[in-house]
Amino acid sequence: IRLRYRYLDLRRQRMQHNMKIRSALNKAIHRNLDEQGFAEFETPILTKATPEGARDYLVPSRVHAGQFYALPQSPQLFKQLLMMAGMDRYYQIARCFRDEDLRADRQPEFTQLDMELSFVDESGVQGVAENMIRAVFNEVLEAGLPDPFPRMTWHEALDVYGSDKPDLRYPMRLHSVDEHVSHIEFRVFSGPANTDGERVAALRVPGGAVFSRKQIDEYTSFIARYGAKGLAWIKVNDADAGLEGLQSPIAKFLDTAAWDGIASQTGAETGDLLFFGAGDWLQTSTFMGHLLVKVGEDLDLATEGWEPLWVTDFPMFEWDEESGRYTAMHHPFTAAIADSPDDLRADPANALSRGYDMVLNGAEIGGGSIRIHNPEMQQTVFELLGIGEEEAQAKFGFLLEALKYGCPPHGGIAFGLDRIAALMAGEASIRDVIAFPKTTTAQCPLTDAPSPIDDRQLDELHIGVKSRD
Ligand code: AMO
Ligand code: AMP
Repeated sequence: IRLRYRYLDLRRQRMQHNMKIRSALNKAIHRNLDEQGFAEFETPILTKATPEGARDYLVPSRVHAGQFYALPQSPQLFKQLLMMAGMDRYYQIARCFRDEDLRADRQPEFTQLDMELSFVDESGVQGVAENMIRAVFNEVLEAGLPDPFPRMTWHEALDVYGSDKPDLRYPMRLHSVDEHVSHIEFRVFSGPANTDGERVAALRVPGGAVFSRKQIDEYTSFIARYGAKGLAWIKVNDADAGLEGLQSPIAKFLDTAAWDGIASQTGAETGDLLFFGAGDWLQTSTFMGHLLVKVGEDLDLATEGWEPLWVTDFPMFEWDEESGRYTAMHHPFTAAIADSPDDLRADPANALSRGYDMVLNGAEIGGGSIRIHNPEMQQTVFELLGIGEEEAQAKFGFLLEALKYGCPPHGGIAFGLDRIAALMAGEASIRDVIAFPKTTTAQCPLTDAPSPIDDRQLDELHIGVKSRD
């Protein structure tokens, strides 16, 4: 209803305030990037597919029967071409289009603050980006962000926070307790504790001993959504009484050595509850990370204020079971931490990329990387992604050709402007900082888009429709 009558909804004070914050944010960005020597560019909307991992929105061509433009998922390739063209510092507030499953922090069309710089390494891009974010938070909210932002590798973020976008406002951590449980009878723990690539992770919930059986069951079902097969727990009723002071379905499997190790590592105190997850490292870390945030929300443990950080050293590739091949964790133009194409080919599964994300209060607000600027390395990455020479030529021939004419080392980042505006406005959904957003089914209730078009128009576009909603 709010979206159907958006012009009335926008009259409310809350929405007026949100729209003003967004406008102030845009102004502050222009001001800061101007000061930092950036020039503003526009890049095409009717273009060719730009791979960022989502489906494309397509536009049929009337003059070229059976051919289609794609709307950009991001200006990625154009900004790289601008670096090759000698435009050292580019930025654009750019509309991007992605046909993907929508959520509170995703819209089918959304806005990026997109940036690219020549002759930089990671610290060069990060320095400029941090400076801009600090300036806009200061200008719009009079909020002071740390200088510099903390940095954490992807591996550490998952190991300690169970997330590649850790929310540092919560005081809790995951503790690896493998060494304390590797000798016990309980296979659910000793199995993973003794297996490479698996782990046993503990989460201490301060004061959690008051949780009822029903609450614990609810947390167990909550993490089952992320593939957890179970959730073990221990209530610490009396920390001074050793094993005797514990209440837990797994207490019978523990000996004094195991408990003492767990207690000292987690810092468990009387009145606390410990949750345990065991199994595959990535999956266990991830479901325990969701649990950390959920418990933190439920117990209202978040500190006030802004907690930004950089997450770095992402894996270069992810294995996709469905298609049986690697996909790029960021995008296929991201440079690897590898000395040569052969170096990368030798062990793609463990290769790290020169990508980085900026995270703020548990939200990924921006992502970028140092790019590949050498045609041979770019070919190698396409190859490892299962993109053959012919396909690479058809899709990215223009980029491969441009690389041959000389290309400066370059890198950049793109921020989700809607997400930054939502954080600034204290809104849970980016819909509340977009004047005319779409629903989670990608519809606009106000204009009724998308809608059917008449047969004459379809004919002109050389299109026959197979089925209709
Ligand atoms: P990436 O795909 O990580 O990188 O996007 C950058 C940032 O854009 C925001 N974002 C979205 N916001 C709202 N709705 C969406 N559907 C949506 N998808 C992404 C996120 C994200 O961090 N070309 C690269 C950037 C680069 O390498 O420079 C890119 O697009 O906040
Ligand atoms: P079971 O032996 O399957 O009855 O499990 C005993 C206890 O271990 C129960 O409390 C389960 O919830 C818990 N559990 C089972 N699988 C896991 C797992 N992968 N990680 C953590 N706890 C688990």
